[in-house]
Amino acid sequence: MQRFVPVLRDDNVDLELISLLNTLMAACKEISFRLHQGELAGILGSTLDENIQGETQKKLDVISNQLIKDILLESGLVRAIASEEEDTIVAGSPSGRYLVCFDPLDGSSNIDINSLVGTIFSIMEVPEGMEGATEEMFLQPGTAQVSAGYVLYGPSTQLALTTGDGVKLFTLDNTIGEFLLTNEKMTISEDTQEFAINMSNQRFWEPAMQQYIADLLAGTTGKRDKNFNMRWIAAMVGDVHRVLSRGGIFTYPTDNKNPAKPHKLRLMYEANPMGFLVEQAGGIASTGYERIMEIEPSEIHQRVAVVLGSKNEVNTCLEYHK
Ligand code: AHG
Ligand code: MN
Ligand code: MN
Repeated sequence: MQRFVPVLRDDNVDLELISLLNTLMAACKEISFRLHQGELAGILGSTLDENIQGETQKKLDVISNQLIKDILLESGLVRAIASEEEDTIVAGSPSGRYLVCFDPLDGSSNIDINSLVGTIFSIMEVPEGMEGATEEMFLQPGTAQVSAGYVLYGPSTQLALTTGDGVKLFTLDNTIGEFLLTNEKMTISEDTQEFAINMSNQRFWEPAMQQYIADLLAGTTGKRDKNFNMRWIAAMVGDVHRVLSRGGIFTYPTDNKNPAKPHKLRLMYEANPMGFLVEQAGGIASTGYERIMEIEPSEIHQRVAVVLGSKNEVNTCLEYHK
């Protein structure tokens, strides 16, 4: 086992980026500590507010957002941030090279049941020649990310990180307050017998997804001729971590439950960073129709359909969408 420094030893990773990642991790360690204090810290439950997306904010959504926002904006390295819990972008240092998008606490509905939650982040550079801090700067496709990752606050706290050269997994050692490298290269198996989807939306999906899932459920009695198992954590970080750890397919597809909101997951805070990680681990991340990382964003809070995971299984799912 090694310290968080393995990234520092990577000659291909810019020193400023390493410094930014360490800064971000300082906030995530604090979130981890407070989460593990749980009820004792009086931080469970909801606020009386809603975020820009009309969702009730939990106290921990607000606390996590504040911790990450403050530390990034004070680092001198960040031009601006965009957060799921902020209405607009927030400006940082005028000379900062980086733009950071984040979902401060993913899986908020799990907070009050003491279950899995996480933090997701995506880092891009300010496009050449752009001054000040504008939303326009953020509207770059996922292929422009220089780094992405998530921190999973589970029985142990883990960081899955990519800087464009594979995915490394670190585990927080609470005795010394450092992330130690515990898996040098996460890879997603090409095949799987495990899928993750919120089945309660079944009747609202497009016909292609209905048929794909029906064939999985038919198991050995259907055209797939093998049985599948199902998991749903209700925190994308938890589901994607399982996919990175032992393979699988995860999807939050288009649905017409609320025609004004056909997608649940956010492009900049969830789909792009997870897409980058999954591709770097050998998997595929698609909307069902196109590669997530190639989408040209039109606004920071944009939402998309997501199908990601084991290469062969995602490809099978994509065949249904052709
Ligand atoms: P958030 O808590 O940041 O709003 O994200 C929750 C997301 C994602 O993490 C998860 O996969 C999905 O919502 C769960 O949705 P359902 O409650 O519809 O299952
Ligand atoms: Mn989320
Ligand atoms: Mn969130």
